[in-house]
Amino acid sequence: MQTRFKFLAAVTALAAVACGGEKPEASEAPPPAAVAAVDPATLDPESITRAELALGDSVFHGLIGATSCQACHGPKGAGGPAAPSLSDGTWLHNDGSYGAIYKQIESGVMAPKQFSSMMPPFGGTPLTAERHRAVAAYVYSLSHKLDDDERGEKKEREKK
Ligand code: HEC
Repeated sequence: MQTRFKFLAAVTALAAVACGGEKPEASEAPPPAAVAAVDPATLDPESITRAELALGDSVFHGLIGATSCQACHGPKGAGGPAAPSLSDGTWLHNDGSYGAIYKQIESGVMAPKQFSSMMPPFGGTPLTAERHRAVAAYVYSLSHKLDDDERGEKKEREKK
């Protein structure tokens, strides 16, 4: 039992690192595989939590996972030599909504409009559904004010 718990804890800890969570409850946390792919149409910016933004920040900056969005889009998503700004509220390929950004990350950009090279799907390496969603939330937050920390906290609690 003890060993089993440790294994579970390790697995959950991995997932927790991913979502920035502090205290994984081994009994309640779903296994990482249970994180289902998201229907972009159902993505609601209101549901974005601070933990999700923190995870998205790490993904964007290549701190976890194999892809670094900042390598092309710049450290704060303000644009770089190989890719446009994601923070100026101007969109080349989508309407800038949370769901549209989510979809764009998955499809990448095969036909760039301003830059000479493409964006591969997920920026290069596929992301888990959770990280995909988190990095989309982070990108969304670069051009939309997600104020109200209390809301984040509340949503965080509601999620549990
Ligand atoms: C290899 C360089 C590269 C990497 C890595 C990369 N992108 Fe891109 N991205 C691009 C290019 C190039 C475009 C399209 C530019 C154009 O149309 O001229 C783009 C476009 C986008 C757009 C659409 C912008 C708009 O104005 O419509 C989003 C959103 C985006 N990237 C998000 C991401 C995220 C999130 C990551 C990390 C998971 C990422 N990108 C990684 C190169 C990159």
